[in-house]
Amino acid sequence: MLNKNTLMSLIMAAFMLFSPAAFAVDSSELIEARQGLMKLYSVNMDMLGEMIRRIQPYDKKKAKDAADNLLALSRLKQGALWPTGTGLASKSLGTKTSAKPEIWIQKENVAQKQKDLVAALEILSRDAGWSLRNLEDSITAVNKACKGCHKDFRARK
Ligand code: HEC
Repeated sequence: MLNKNTLMSLIMAAFMLFSPAAFAVDSSELIEARQGLMKLYSVNMDMLGEMIRRIQPYDKKKAKDAADNLLALSRLKQGALWPTGTGLASKSLGTKTSAKPEIWIQKENVAQKQKDLVAALEILSRDAGWSLRNLEDSITAVNKACKGCHKDFRARK
């Protein structure tokens, strides 16, 4: 049986869990999250790169999995990870991020860069599991799409 105090604490706990304050994510966490997304891109790209450079043997299943991961990542809705004012120009956050302020101004350009990436990854995920040759052919456009966005919107450290 629940006594009155236990019941009250349970109700309070539930309240805390669902109150907006419990969900408030601060900007540095959002920066870490979007950098985490970028790192996930990198890990999967590196796996494919190692197969291409013959550091690890080409494996159809692993290649297909990495390509599918990349495509799934590129389709995440990222809006919440990029709140305005969390770029390099921010006094409090500027040291934590390499996002150039232009990313919040040139919205169409950013959207186009993201579309380029998704389009290249659709081809990669279709082709990566066929053969090493197909993987090599289709990864070029993906690299280009990553670099294309970094060139405009990511500062070199
Ligand atoms: C639409 C633009 C865009 C695309 C496409 C893009 N990136 Fe990024 N990337 C950025 C920006 C902006 C940053 C800086 C983020 C920050 O520091 O807040 C970044 C940062 C990174 C970082 C550094 C993360 C860290 O820990 O600081 C890596 C690694 C990275 N990207 C890899 C990739 C790879 C690999 C791809 C392609 C599969 C890719 N990115 C595609 C915009 C993009």
